[in-house]
Amino acid sequence: MDKYAVIGNPIKQSLSPVIHTAFARETDQKLEYGKLFAEADGFKATADAFFSAGAKGLNVTAPFKLDAFEYADELTERARLAGAVNTLARQPDGTLLGDNTDGPGLVSDIRDHLGWVIEGKKVLVLGAGGATRGTLLPLLKQNPAQLHIANRTASKAERLAEDFAAYGALSASGLDTIPAGFDLIINASAAGLSGERPQIDSSVIGPDCCAYDMVYGAEPTAFMRWAEPLGARTADGLGMLVGQAAEAFALWRGVRPSVEPVLAMLRETLH
Ligand code: ATR
Repeated sequence: MDKYAVIGNPIKQSLSPVIHTAFARETDQKLEYGKLFAEADGFKATADAFFSAGAKGLNVTAPFKLDAFEYADELTERARLAGAVNTLARQPDGTLLGDNTDGPGLVSDIRDHLGWVIEGKKVLVLGAGGATRGTLLPLLKQNPAQLHIANRTASKAERLAEDFAAYGALSASGLDTIPAGFDLIINASAAGLSGERPQIDSSVIGPDCCAYDMVYGAEPTAFMRWAEPLGARTADGLGMLVGQAAEAFALWRGVRPSVEPVLAMLRETLH
């Protein structure tokens, strides 16, 4: 049977096996999907052993997305621009393709699942780390009217805007000088991981604003709890997790699973 896994450190918490096993059942695909733990300096050895044994693909989570980027024989454009790989797929000639499905997973959750519009809208992304870098190209491909990156350290946001200038119009600032009135705000900062939120002024929230947090949990995140009373529709990143998995599954198996049933099941188990 075709073998897949998710590799990370830690890895116990990963929901990927549950998600991919449900996708396989739904699409009638025969595959095995497990968890792989690697020591901090052990990505290559662990991945080598897995692929030598005939495995077909790997999902890659923290802290190995840069190792996987180096490890891939070939990269998709979005992985190259993200500077990180979250999905490795063995190709028919035996080489490994590195892709990054995090950004497409975010876009499909926002657009297809939540039904929020990106095209023609004023979009603000908070944070300028790897999570932001991975989402800029997929977001620009949706043709927003404006894409502004704001970060606690302004220079990092400005650097990202320069790096992606060839792909669309981007502006950048620190958190205290963000223009007012956005239609869609995406929190890609790591603040939520410690229960915090980026300190921004409420004027950034425009009429009919949608606020998306890439972090998820049993309860609404600090960013969602801030945005909702200000009139924004809110969502957490559980749908992005399922969305990136669906993109990886489609790359590996050539069939696109539906995300709704899996998302509903995960939401249930989180509570
Ligand atoms: P990731 O790969 O998850 O994006 P990262 O590369 O470490 O992680 O980047 C974390 C991002 O979250 C950075 O943009 C960071 O801001 P700085 O560049 O100023 O460090 C941002 N961040 C982390 N904690 C934050 C907080 N409490 N408030 C605002 N931004 C925060």
